[in-house]
Amino acid sequence: MSKILLLGSGELGKEFVIAAQRLGQIVIAVDSYANAPAMQVAHGFEVINMLDGDALDHIVAKHQPDYIVPEIEAIRTERFYAYEKDGYTVIPSAKAANYTMNRKSIRDLAAKELGLKTADYRYAASAKALSAAIQEIGMPCVVKPLMSSSGKGQSTIKTEADIQKAWDYSQEGSRGDVAEVIVEGFVNFNYEITLLTVTQRNGKTLFCPPIGHRQERGDYQESWQPATMQSKHLQTAQDMAAKVTTALGGAGLWGVEFFIADDGVYFSELSPRPHDTGMVTLGNTQNFNEFELHLRAVLGLPISEITQERIGASAVILANEHSDNPTFSGIEEVANATKSDFRLFGKPSSRPYRRMGVVVTYDNLDGDIKAVTERAKELASKVKVNP
Ligand SMILES: Nc1ncnc2c1ncn2[C@@H]1O[C@H](COP(=O)(O)OP(=O)(O)OP(=O)(O)O)[C@@H](O)[C@H]1O
Ligand SMILES: [Mg+2]
Repeated sequence: MSKILLLGSGELGKEFVIAAQRLGQIVIAVDSYANAPAMQVAHGFEVINMLDGDALDHIVAKHQPDYIVPEIEAIRTERFYAYEKDGYTVIPSAKAANYTMNRKSIRDLAAKELGLKTADYRYAASAKALSAAIQEIGMPCVVKPLMSSSGKGQSTIKTEADIQKAWDYSQEGSRGDVAEVIVEGFVNFNYEITLLTVTQRNGKTLFCPPIGHRQERGDYQESWQPATMQSKHLQTAQDMAAKVTTALGGAGLWGVEFFIADDGVYFSELSPRPHDTGMVTLGNTQNFNEFELHLRAVLGLPISEITQERIGASAVILANEHSDNPTFSGIEEVANATKSDFRLFGKPSSRPYRRMGVVVTYDNLDGDIKAVTERAKELASKVKVNP
């Protein structure tokens, strides 16, 4: 039996803990607030600010975990290198967690070192530098804080008049002490995918069937698996995912994001851990869902193959209002629908757009993926989060 220190305790962490519990592992779940979803199912918990390196050092020393498993980006990941030196196993690796928390590190690695095709990009550390960068990149373009996730501080610039606004917004949405932004040429993609990729300590790299998804305000609304795509594009995406995960090193499941446009496949970014769009696998679309795959890779258990068992979709249940006692209505209708399931995450409070649950739908392998996705959307829209 091994001990896992899970850094981040949201809904993805909760499913990971449930997978770990089923294999008899011990998990200590960590987050900045008590009663977070993953804490509700773990053996123990810690409430700390994970951007505070000393607080992080303290709980690592206290619990002496076999595995340190980050579930979010906002962690003082610089400390991970020291943990590795001290003999701890960081998942997938200290480098992976550290590089992916800053868009600059991961983008330079992917585009410059590995030569992957990405959107054109520049960095800017002031509104003036942003204007100059946009001169070079052209409009439309997308501005993102170097340290942010879920679309925070991100905006699309279409005209000169948007530039100052985008800069100000990026500074509100930036996490930590970094003011710099990345500005990317707008990729006029036909669709985007997440390619869940599994790297193993003693085995080959495996890929899940591609997941299609739709984003709004920087957060995913629906995802479906498999995404329909040309096999040459899938092959290109797999090659790129193998390159970038190999360069970052270690074992685990990764969510590698791509845009597919008329002129080919663009690498966008990646999560070195389960991906929110991968919640579609909770509909048992695969022999193992993404959390089970992550756990097996963490523990070094061999994964011989990943098979698609059925097609599926997921659609998010969002709150509209602030509440410290959110309740749900419309659940009976979802429960009553065939070939569907749902999760309510147990978050103790709600705020506008906070993800509170997810609906999954599925069908046989020869089913219609568009219809399955529409069904997920429709069912999710029946659930209301009440303040
Ligand atoms: N250069 C671009 N061109 C076109 N669309 C883009 C570009 N960059 C981002 N987007 C759109 O915005 C979404 C969010 O961007 P990105 O994944 O970089 O942000 P994020 O905040 O890290 O999101 P998350 O952490 O939720 O994955 C993308 O999935 C895509 O739909
Ligand atoms: Mg993303």
